[in-house]
Amino acid sequence: MSVKDRVLLALEENKNNPISGETLANTLNCTRASIWKAIKSLQNEGYEVLAVNNKGYTLVNSSDTVQESYIKKLLVDANVELKLEVRDSVESTNDLLKQYANNGIKDDMVVIAQEQTKGKGRRGRSFYSPKGTGIYISFLLHPDIPVTEAARLTTLAVAAECLAIEAVSNEKADIKWVNDVVMRGKKVSGILTEASASVEDGTLEYVVPGIGINIYEPEGGFPEEIKDIAGAIFTENEKKENIRNKLVAEFVIKFYFFYKDFLDGKNTYLEEYKKRCFVIGKEISFLTPDHKVIDNVPENRKHAKVIGINDECHLHVEYEDGFKEYLSSGEISVRIK
Ligand code: BTN
Repeated sequence: MSVKDRVLLALEENKNNPISGETLANTLNCTRASIWKAIKSLQNEGYEVLAVNNKGYTLVNSSDTVQESYIKKLLVDANVELKLEVRDSVESTNDLLKQYANNGIKDDMVVIAQEQTKGKGRRGRSFYSPKGTGIYISFLLHPDIPVTEAARLTTLAVAAECLAIEAVSNEKADIKWVNDVVMRGKKVSGILTEASASVEDGTLEYVVPGIGINIYEPEGGFPEEIKDIAGAIFTENEKKENIRNKLVAEFVIKFYFFYKDFLDGKNTYLEEYKKRCFVIGKEISFLTPDHKVIDNVPENRKHAKVIGINDECHLHVEYEDGFKEYLSSGEISVRIK
């Protein structure tokens, strides 16, 4: 970790308590000149570090950007063994990790970006990924599991994300099956899981679950095409203290522990997923993944009642004629009678 990162961490941990250059130099085991240099470069990056007369340095406001060192420390403290990379802007965090995997990277890792210029959504859609209001996170994983099990990592990620959102916001996060996180009736997050498998033996080479979270509403609101469905964790425009780092660290830690349990054969994420899945008992209409769209209108919209959910997170539905089946994918909407 660079001196600058360590200084930032120390200032962050001592918010509102100025620390002298001498104390910083002693605790970080470096010269006062290097502390001064680190403070200057933090100020140049936009951190409001004030020199308080005779007392030392204090960080007034976090810039609410992702700080690699801060997150790394929390991950190390929690024994999370994932490599971490923080990027300012990428085309797509999923694409970046797939590129790494295809170039032979075998480590499990997580990439966090503050902006995506070509963010991808499900079914070939794009995912609105602006800087400042959202956060975009992808994992590169190499689990030794059959291809058919890969979808569980999506549901596992959704459950971890709900817990992280609830921890930083003190508000309940719901799951709109299969994998949208919803607060106050609006989608605050989506997940796209991509994977590569060997054609020869059908084994999984790698999996990349990618999560986009709207932390705040963008100034001027969401773009026209998503404004009716998109929402954010926080509605007020006031920026929360260091929330981005806390949310990311909470999420990665929760994801990692669910993932470790999953590899050990324990589906601890399931209970958290099921209890937030708000469609159980509701009348829904849904589109199967292979539905056709004719004149902009989707064909074959089906209606059913959700009577349960199984351990694969498949929805158990009952049609009006009494026929029952399990749905493993598709897009649903809750019917308002
Ligand atoms: C959806 O709701 O349609 C899924 C959206 C998934 C967006 C995330 S953001 C991080 C990762 N990188 C991408 O390009 N997409 C996923």
